[in-house]
Amino acid sequence: MITSNLLRGEQVRLTAVTAGDMPAITRWWADPDFLRLYNTAPAAPRNEDQLSRRFDLSQTSPDVFLFAVRLLDEEEIVGLLEFDGVDWSNRTTFVSIGIGEARHRGQGYGRDAMAVGLRFAFHELNLHRVCLTVFGYNAAAIALYERLGFTREGVYREHIERDGRRYDMLLYGLLRREWEKTQGSRGAGEQG
Ligand SMILES: CC(C)(COP(=O)(O)OP(=O)(O)OC[C@H]1O[C@@H](n2cnc3c(N)ncnc32)[C@H](O)[C@@H]1OP(=O)(O)O)[C@@H](O)C(=O)NCCC(=O)NCCS
Repeated sequence: MITSNLLRGEQVRLTAVTAGDMPAITRWWADPDFLRLYNTAPAAPRNEDQLSRRFDLSQTSPDVFLFAVRLLDEEEIVGLLEFDGVDWSNRTTFVSIGIGEARHRGQGYGRDAMAVGLRFAFHELNLHRVCLTVFGYNAAAIALYERLGFTREGVYREHIERDGRRYDMLLYGLLRREWEKTQGSRGAGEQG
């Protein structure tokens, strides 16, 4: 039997990002602490129009899957999860995740959202490999990825410069067969 809960976890669900989410996302993009964990771009605020263009909600590229993370029974957006640039011939993708407000972090939402996202990547997109990069100073994200079974595959040495110091960027990857082992009896075949 196929799952009826493909995009629902134990605490969160993955949904479309809507125009109504843009004020919250704009708030996150005004928080340099969030931006300095999230990506390598300069931590500069962006307004709602700029971010709407960045997320390009009106056009969906077939190679990008962008999700809003919401709690199961609430409409408020708490995070973003994005599969960026799926390489269909090799069936690989990069993934990124961000839980926007500090008060929402450390409550299991990131882990649950990523667990649901991985199920989507491996059992819906039928990908072979999911990978990501994370900064050496992002202890919470590193703990999350290792908890989910990702393997540290490499290091981009001294890739980031912040506050006059250089930091490594780590490459993590997870293969479908490794992910299936972490699923126990729910992994290889049926779920839900
Ligand atoms: C990284 C992030 C996605 C993790 O999501 P989260 O909801 O805060 O984390 P969770 O509560 O699901 O915890 C996941 C695991 O990470 C560990 N963890 C969480 N916060 C931690 C912290 N501050 N330090 C060390 N480990 C931490 C937890 O121990 C947990 O493991 P467990 O399930 O064995 O207890 C979230 O903190 C975030 O979005 N941060 C800002 C943006 C960012 O860093 N994005 C990732 C870029 S690579």
